[in-house]
Amino acid sequence: MGETQQVTQEEPFHRVADVLAGQHTGAAVRLRGWVHRQRSGGKIAFVTLRDGTGTVQCTVKAGIADDASLEAAKGAIIESSVSLLEGEVVEDERAPGGYEVKVTRFQLHQKSEDFPLRGEQGIEFELDNRHLWLRSSQLSAVLRVKHRLYKAIRDFFDQEGFVEVDPSVITTNACEGGSTLFEFDYFGKTAYLSQSAQMYLEGCIFGNPKVYSVTPSFRAEKSRTAKHLTEFHHLEAEYAWWEHEENLAFQEKMVAHLAYTIGTECEADLKALSADPGKLLAVKAPFKRISYHDAAARLRDLGYEFPDGEDFGTPHEQALGEEEDLTQGGTSPFFVTDWPADIKAFYMHEITDRKGPNGETLVACADLMGPGGFGELIGGSQRSEDVDWMKRRLLEQAVHDQKEVTMHGTDVPNDFLTASTEETLEKLDEKWFNTAMHWFYQHQGMFPKGLSLDQQFNLIKSRSRLETLDAIRQHLLAPYKWYFDLRRYGSVPHAGFGLGIERLLRWFTEQEHIRDMLPYPRTPSRAYP
Ligand code: 4AD
Ligand code: MG
Repeated sequence: MGETQQVTQEEPFHRVADVLAGQHTGAAVRLRGWVHRQRSGGKIAFVTLRDGTGTVQCTVKAGIADDASLEAAKGAIIESSVSLLEGEVVEDERAPGGYEVKVTRFQLHQKSEDFPLRGEQGIEFELDNRHLWLRSSQLSAVLRVKHRLYKAIRDFFDQEGFVEVDPSVITTNACEGGSTLFEFDYFGKTAYLSQSAQMYLEGCIFGNPKVYSVTPSFRAEKSRTAKHLTEFHHLEAEYAWWEHEENLAFQEKMVAHLAYTIGTECEADLKALSADPGKLLAVKAPFKRISYHDAAARLRDLGYEFPDGEDFGTPHEQALGEEEDLTQGGTSPFFVTDWPADIKAFYMHEITDRKGPNGETLVACADLMGPGGFGELIGGSQRSEDVDWMKRRLLEQAVHDQKEVTMHGTDVPNDFLTASTEETLEKLDEKWFNTAMHWFYQHQGMFPKGLSLDQQFNLIKSRSRLETLDAIRQHLLAPYKWYFDLRRYGSVPHAGFGLGIERLLRWFTEQEHIRDMLPYPRTPSRAYP
């Protein structure tokens, strides 16, 4: 570590931004910050100072500054921390920003070691040095815009009469399916990092009918794309009495409002990031809507091989986001509605008055897609009040997830866990039934400890098929008991949504990668620093 000196604190310091705004021209200022650039020779040193509000050129010259100040300025290599204890602001066309500070007293707080980041050293190097890269003008500007965004969100929800609540991120429930859960040992029991606060918010609406929260959410997703993080910040809202239509109307009002607010309040930072604030002012509600099946057909028209019944991947979202009619000329997001239940979460409200083109059951939900390549911004839905339907969906999903983990390539039907009579169960092939049961027991930790493989199979065979299935069903559904309780004591229609803050911010700031939307990004390959 270099030597440090005590910085004198007797008078307040000024802001570089105010110097650049012409507020101190001809006056004495005191500034402090870090050395952004420096060059010196003989009797003069030029130090570009960065203080977090801007950068300004400071000239330390023999005869004007004392000897100690000149020596200090000459030693102030890049990223040294410094104070200008005295200087005068002069207008100078040649200086970047149009102003220069003529320094009379300069102090080096700490001479930096050679700063390791010099640009163009590769993204992995920059990410390994994220703690140092955070002083870059790009990341600093993004974080300022994010700060404004958080404030705009809170102001908006406050005006709309919502109560902010803070649900736990430690949970025993999968909200969005088991395949992306981070699991950990919670004093001898299994718990998860929350994927979504939704279920906990649903429990809050009976006391405060309109609630929202901003929490970290976690997804153990291996996706290495420009829009996936394993930890992101989730704005979620839930409201009692509201149905699908009101949910969508609220979302578009909110997104248009946030775009307008950020476009006006963050003009300078957006421009510094090469983003166009004008685009955000052009965001127009209501947003266009397209059904899942129409979107799928359109992708096929565009030349994609896209089978009905699959979820959209990044290239599909991007292709749709480039459709002028959907995005109102490239400015606004659009909703994809009417999704097949099979590819959505268990809690969504079943649409009962119509089916999809291939007879699929549909659910009352919508994904909001950003224009261009920014992809899904919001997932929202009306929530089911039908406990039997949700249980069935959970069990089907469990089979689906289990297939991905252990039962690759088997033709186990997705609905076999929901079979309810010995008669239907008897029809199932003995060998795969026992094997499938074994997989479930094992994966769900349902075998008593220390059983041999033979003993495990014997345990399964010693019970009737219905008993075995019942044990699995109870085991899978038990964590949701409290959630189903919410449908027992004065249930009401309700709806809500979740918005990925970093996804929205990436669209607003037009940045390439979601990892630059937060200071310490977490991805499958990175949890350091
Ligand atoms: O669509 P998702 O999975 O929906 C839910 O979690 C609902 N339970 C929310 C609710 O209704 N309360 O996630 C919601 C949003 C997505 O649209 C996306 O913006 C963001 O969360 N998101 C991610 N952002 C970054 N990285 C990831 N891996 C993300 N996964 C989801
Ligand atoms: Mg989604």
